[in-house]
Amino acid sequence: MEQYIIKGGNPLVGEVDIAGAKNAALAILAASIMADETITIDNLPDVRDINVLLEAIEGIGAIVNRVDRSTVKINGSTIQNISVDYEYIKKIRASYYLLGALLGKYRHAEVPLPGGCNIGSRPIDQHLKGFRALGADVDILHGAIIAKSESLHGAHIYLDVVSVGATINIMMAAALSPGRTILENAAKEPHVVDVANFLNSMGANIKGAGTDVIRIKGVEKLHKTEYSIIPDQIEAGTFMFAAAATGGDVTVRNVIPKHLEATTAKLIEIGCEVEEFDDAVRVRASKKLGRTNVKTLPYPGYPTDMQPQITVALSIAKGTSIVTESIFENRFKYAGELARMGAHIRVEGNSAIIDGVDRLTGARVCAPDLRAGAALVIAGLAAEGITIVDDIVYIQRGYEDFEGKLRSLGAEIEKVSSEKEIRKFRLRVG
Ligand code: EPZ
Repeated sequence: MEQYIIKGGNPLVGEVDIAGAKNAALAILAASIMADETITIDNLPDVRDINVLLEAIEGIGAIVNRVDRSTVKINGSTIQNISVDYEYIKKIRASYYLLGALLGKYRHAEVPLPGGCNIGSRPIDQHLKGFRALGADVDILHGAIIAKSESLHGAHIYLDVVSVGATINIMMAAALSPGRTILENAAKEPHVVDVANFLNSMGANIKGAGTDVIRIKGVEKLHKTEYSIIPDQIEAGTFMFAAAATGGDVTVRNVIPKHLEATTAKLIEIGCEVEEFDDAVRVRASKKLGRTNVKTLPYPGYPTDMQPQITVALSIAKGTSIVTESIFENRFKYAGELARMGAHIRVEGNSAIIDGVDRLTGARVCAPDLRAGAALVIAGLAAEGITIVDDIVYIQRGYEDFEGKLRSLGAEIEKVSSEKEIRKFRLRVG
């Protein structure tokens, strides 16, 4: 198993280019099969989840041509199979976006039911509620969701929970469902808007994405398009908190500052200087960080995917902070690992109370999930001594060349897979 080994203590300084948004790209790749013409998508992040979903799309018979690491051409005209193989859902839940895409296009889709994951049970009842409202019969048989309909139609759907996945999945199916669909209590994340813009570039008729009421007028067919994925605000925010936690000075480039507003506001509140440019944001942490309280909320609130990162920064801030996780029921699994590095953190219900300490010390820790794994790397960069992070396959799911980008900012970090390589690193860094 590969690990990261880190020698902490270097302030991160410099500029880093942010890749395309994983959570926009996964939905857009699924939606691209809805046309019978070639779709060209660029600014794709070269991360494991994207590569697995492309295999799943090829697995149902679509033509997938990877032009280069950040560009792909997909043609859905050759799809033979409306059933997605379990091995893909097991690897990435977001394969469930093929449900909405296949149901909308072929009026039939069979996708294995995604299980829970390390951050919560993650039900998909709202997705299924939307498909049924559009006229689909939806059953769960032998662990798979079977959705089919003789005739889909528009519907007035009110989501009981603000769900990114349900909003996007229903929007895809409704794009090809005759009639008008109104989706209320919709998620407003930037990647929801990106998927709506992508579908509209294919000839869909979707209005209101980015607000909590999305109006869709079903069309007959979708056509070819060329599209570029928006920048990943979570990757950008991760590097911004790495700058804050290491007392650094980092500029994240190729970003949309507006998408980072909640993150920027918190960085300023804890004492960082943040400068916004057209497509870049600079974060400087010249003094000891201060405390704050934060609650994760649907966009435009503070993102749940940035919760572990701010917790790490607050673990070495002055004073006591409270971080409340309102989206997922089990997203503090990393707290025990952070405590092993010297953090004073206790989890009570869905809140973590953090008493800031002077410094963290390096230790061997385990990444429990994607964003917590990235946050433990930030902890290692800020800690005194050597940190080894195990199970980095989680991190590689959502961060392109994470260690390479960190090294370009002055971090002492390497990807290793043997005790021999660990010994070599220790000898080199002293
Ligand atoms: C997306 O997950 C992201 N994943 C997550 O990012 C992100 O944390 C989450 O949105 C919230 O922003 C992708 O886009 C691939 P939700 P999703 O449906 O769509 C409940 C990462 O690190 N819910 O908005 O699954 C659910 O349990 C990942 O990149 C229902 O109850 O999230 C949760 O409490 C982690 N019923 C809340 O809604 C449903 O049918 C929000 O979930 C659907 C969701």
